[in-house]
Amino acid sequence: MHRRQFIAAVGAVGTFSAVVPVDSPLAAASNAAAVAAGASLIKGTPVVFAPVADGFTVTVALNAPALVRVEYGETAALGAVARSDSCGFVPHDDVAVKIRLRGLRPGERYHWRVVAGPLSAGARKGAVERTATYVTRTLAPTAGETRFGVWNDTHDRAETIQRLHEGRGEGDDFLLWNGDVSNDVNRREILPGLYVCPKGVDLAEGAPVFFVRGNHDVRGIWANKMTDFVDFPEGRPFYAFRSGPLGVVVLDTGEDKPDAHPSFKGVAAFEDLIREQAVWLGRAIASPELRDAPCRVVFCHIPLRWHKEARPDYARGGYDWVSLRGREAWGGVLRQWGAQVVVSGHTHRAAWLPPSGEWPFGQLVGGGPRLDVATRIRGHATGRELRLVMERVVDGTVLHALSFPSVC
Ligand SMILES: [Fe+2]
Repeated sequence: MHRRQFIAAVGAVGTFSAVVPVDSPLAAASNAAAVAAGASLIKGTPVVFAPVADGFTVTVALNAPALVRVEYGETAALGAVARSDSCGFVPHDDVAVKIRLRGLRPGERYHWRVVAGPLSAGARKGAVERTATYVTRTLAPTAGETRFGVWNDTHDRAETIQRLHEGRGEGDDFLLWNGDVSNDVNRREILPGLYVCPKGVDLAEGAPVFFVRGNHDVRGIWANKMTDFVDFPEGRPFYAFRSGPLGVVVLDTGEDKPDAHPSFKGVAAFEDLIREQAVWLGRAIASPELRDAPCRVVFCHIPLRWHKEARPDYARGGYDWVSLRGREAWGGVLRQWGAQVVVSGHTHRAAWLPPSGEWPFGQLVGGGPRLDVATRIRGHATGRELRLVMERVVDGTVLHALSFPSVC
């Protein structure tokens, strides 16, 4: 399609999603201070979440009230612009804006940048700020192969995140961040630095991010505000997608103790969420994307298998090393689908549990947040096999190199 035709087509169907209102006295105070100090409108660098075949979401954090748009196109000339949300507003906020580009083509590279202008009376002609121009590729469900990376349990450790970022694969189709990005979230103002612009890295450089919530991402009284910044393909923290021959299921294991545990201060309702995911999963595996996938992987933060599976004593400081709640709800459906491997984190101990007679899927578990025990996983799926290689971040030592022959 000619570029002008393409831009017209995108303009007809391209919209962007919700503006993010974050109404916090603390955030307002820090924004006012930022404006007084002459800080830029845009805070740090943007990030891309939830790529699908026809779109992805750009999130940008802000220091002050701003009107925001995304300029994009198939070449560096850009040419298309997304500047209205689903309710007719120009996206604007004082803390962060999430913009979903829609109507894109599968497996296509898109150049894009964020443009922000001041939002204040009489300031329509104020200085406009632009991010760098990035390139993001949409997912390609019919491609012959796919490559990806997996991080887990970074826990706001800047050095570990920076080393992981340095090692991102050039040709990866996605990065899957497998939970516990945060420690507990009891202050809203820490959210941008956790999920959008961590210190010393530009997450928008490299493949788009699929996010999987860990128990520390759902812990704290303001953990529920994480979705003001992070996006998921279907708006929920559990989802499925296809990238080339790889069928992917993402599940949310919630907390590592029962909802009624007093440390949660009454805000946890993850047992309902686990039950809801069982119903959703039963439908999802019947979709052609999953039903016909040659390679089949599950990502969830808390493992579904572990070496010792005794029920912990929650009243004495015990917590789950394995999500028996999740496995009881989902294990039968995962067996029915033919899941080959579940990839998790949580224990901070790298591990591989091969398939067993009882559980036909293997369990791969990444390492912990400290640089000396941190791991990365590199994945490559073709029509013949899924390969997963786990290596130490600090020196590249390969801990596990696994191959799963395609199932169809
Ligand atoms: Fe963790």
